Amino acid sequence: MSAPAPALPAAVLRVQAGQPLLVETFAAWREAARDLLVWGVPPEAITWSSPQAGGDLFSSAPAAAETAPPAFTVSVPTKNPPHVPRSLMEMLQSAACCRVPDRWAFLYRVMWRWQQGEHDVQSPADEDGARLNAMVKAVRREEHDMHAYIRFRERPVDAGAPRFVAWYEPRHDVLPQVAQHFVSRMGKVSWMIATPEASVLWDGHTLHNAGPLVDKAEDLDDSGEALWLTYYRSIFNPARLNTAVMQQHITSDRWKNLPEGKIVPHMISEAAMGARKIGQAQAVGQRKGTTIPIAPADAQPERQQPTKLDECRRCELWQFATQAVPGEGPQHAPIMFVGEQPGDQEDLAGHAFIGPAGKLLDQVCDAAGVDRDTIYVTNAVKHFKWEPRGKRRLHKTPAQREVEACHYWLDKELAQVNPTVIVALGATALKSVLRTANVTLKNSLGKPMKVDGRWVVTTYHPSYVLRVPSEDAKQEAFSTMVAGLKLAHELLNRPIDAPAPE
Ligand code: URA
Repeated sequence: MSAPAPALPAAVLRVQAGQPLLVETFAAWREAARDLLVWGVPPEAITWSSPQAGGDLFSSAPAAAETAPPAFTVSVPTKNPPHVPRSLMEMLQSAACCRVPDRWAFLYRVMWRWQQGEHDVQSPADEDGARLNAMVKAVRREEHDMHAYIRFRERPVDAGAPRFVAWYEPRHDVLPQVAQHFVSRMGKVSWMIATPEASVLWDGHTLHNAGPLVDKAEDLDDSGEALWLTYYRSIFNPARLNTAVMQQHITSDRWKNLPEGKIVPHMISEAAMGARKIGQAQAVGQRKGTTIPIAPADAQPERQQPTKLDECRRCELWQFATQAVPGEGPQHAPIMFVGEQPGDQEDLAGHAFIGPAGKLLDQVCDAAGVDRDTIYVTNAVKHFKWEPRGKRRLHKTPAQREVEACHYWLDKELAQVNPTVIVALGATALKSVLRTANVTLKNSLGKPMKVDGRWVVTTYHPSYVLRVPSEDAKQEAFSTMVAGLKLAHELLNRPIDAPAPE
């Protein structure tokens, strides 16, 4: 007796009935495409339809729903499930985000040809391959642009509402992957990205998808914009202005949703009228150290078991940070460096002083002839405090109450490591180590103090050395740091009851 014929999958049934296949997501398309391939349904027999049909330069065919497919019948599966290499599947997934009216039909044609053994279909030398590659490129470019040009605006604190809100008009359907990027970038602070087609809300724990929430950018709260414009003016460097490149990189549809779009034309004309030289002197001088970008996926450490520090709620900063950053170094190190708080890269990586300030600290240790690996390195505050400036997170000095809340952790580290000498890096560290706000860095530099049976040496914070405008002043600040570290090293052999060296 022969086995009963397998039941027809829903997608095949619809095709046989001459009905269009409505597809909204890549996952739905992939499932339908797999069934259709197994049952040998050729591309020309299928009418794909999608809720967002539109048209642009990648379109090579009319929207599939416009043409009536030929009749097609099948009673048994004719093919094995397709083996699609991961590289092709990734391309298909990317291309599925490209807003062209026939995207699902096109992707199916590619899969169909692949299954027929036409593996050139992935190559840019093939007509379909060229179109596939162009769609992937357009989508990647759009993801990049959305990372780069989105601008969050801070909203007044309001129970239940997101803290930061951004409006963006993407050219392709890249919101889901861009949202994931910001989930890993912005810690536990809540935010929303609204687009004309959809919106996403991150409440600090979970990502929620919603339909369009606002009709236009003006509906979003504008507070915080004035601050951003001030910042933008301060980093704008007319001496390096190349308007042609600027306009090529940021097209007019991008500028209209960038707050700085309103002030850029004015700044360009100022530059052309001779502000170029002055601008160079001012803006270059004010530049801070270069931020070395690090991909969150590369930097995120795996934390299987959260430490107690991770669970700290002694102040509000935990909400905005990716994670708490503990001190690191030998458990009984003779010298302890105390910095201010983790920076952007430290927050992502979970390790203190690994970014530009950390690199400078390495140079100071080298110049002083001290091995950094023998030093315990920590911060007065263990969570990164920041404020958004466009897509960047800018360091914000912790408040005294936040420093005080974090004494709890510094005390634990001091009790555990029991260093002979503490080196306070900058004013925040100094205030934390001395437990008072009534102390200045200037008056303490180079003057060792005794606190709770330990020597305390004060020096500059490495970020200050990176920021300081003139080369001479930078050298001087660097030498002060080196002298501070040498002094700390000398104090290791000086009894605490001996007078402090002059
Ligand atoms: N600045 C600090 O004070 N600490 C770090 O860990 C990094 C930058």
